[in-house]
Amino acid sequence: MKKKIFSGVQPTGNLHLGNYLGAIKNFVELDKNNENECIFCVVDLHAITVNQDPRELKKNIYETVATFIASGINPKKSIIFNQSQVSAHSEAAWILGCTARMGWLNRMTQFKEKAGKDKEKASIGLYSYPVLMAADILLYDATHVPVGDDQKQHLELCRDIAQKFNNDFRVDELKIPEPLIKKDFSRIMSLKDGLKKMSKSELSDLSRINLTDEKDQIINKIKKAKTDPLPMPSNVNELDQRPEAKNLIGIFSSLSGMTLEKSVEKFSGENFSKFKEHLSQVLVDKIAPISEEIKKLINEKSYIEEILKKGCQKADEIASKKLKKIQKIVGF
Ligand code: TYM
Repeated sequence: MKKKIFSGVQPTGNLHLGNYLGAIKNFVELDKNNENECIFCVVDLHAITVNQDPRELKKNIYETVATFIASGINPKKSIIFNQSQVSAHSEAAWILGCTARMGWLNRMTQFKEKAGKDKEKASIGLYSYPVLMAADILLYDATHVPVGDDQKQHLELCRDIAQKFNNDFRVDELKIPEPLIKKDFSRIMSLKDGLKKMSKSELSDLSRINLTDEKDQIINKIKKAKTDPLPMPSNVNELDQRPEAKNLIGIFSSLSGMTLEKSVEKFSGENFSKFKEHLSQVLVDKIAPISEEIKKLINEKSYIEEILKKGCQKADEIASKKLKKIQKIVGF
């Protein structure tokens, strides 16, 4: 049976190494396998759950598409589209919002983190965000959803919503999707703090490698990346006590394709400065070409627009059929 893959990325600018290693790199591998049908969505409806400058948003939608293609996704094979142009997403989210329970949403840790101390001021959209995410996935009968570790709870919620909908209406309409989360590299941490997730919202640009960074910026950021005072670890078990070393070796391992064990062995007992030279090299080899390609593609506006137009048409065809079935089930 063909795997149906669905995943989404928010067009909020500054896509970074965490997005790449946790998600986009896996999208590329899945896209290359002819057994899979892949749909990759630029989730602009999700982006407006926090304030966005409309002009920046438009630019970031194009940049996200450019990043998918520059990373190696083939737009002739996979569907690439933006969520807001397929109205079934918003409509299905409303219906599924009537299946989801407040208690379930109250447990979402990402809402708590993003809303911060002043929950009263958070948008309703930020709160119900995981319901829209469930609609995204369920409209396409996705069997597998590749994401980073931070989306695991949202996927569990999606499964709960699908199950409850099927039970409530005694149907078997919504497919229960499986998460695809890489064991070792699903949570890339900040370069400034090995206990904090690498994120586009962290103030310091030195905390992350952006996919649009150039060679010199990458080298500089790795030079300044936080380490601990000990030499490089000599076995994998040591890594849990040394978050910065764990993160940097993890990045090296994921990009070089060398296992974590082999990577630890290779640099065992060395100074961090020596290891950082190797790490910078693999980063420059992998990220600098993507960065160059993104910059080239964002100037080819009509090419990007054409991809989105075709992608939206194909996505709309699938999603609107599914929405009709869902509407019929609830009695519309
Ligand atoms: P977003 O836009 O925050 O992130 C996009 C993808 O990047 C992963 N990611 C990371 N992985 C490893 N380490 C990190 N530091 C890191 N930071 C981000 C995320 O896990 C994600 O896979 N809600 C989603 C978008 C979404 C979606 C969907 C995903 C909307 N609908 C349906 C899957 C299916 C989000 O905000 O991702």
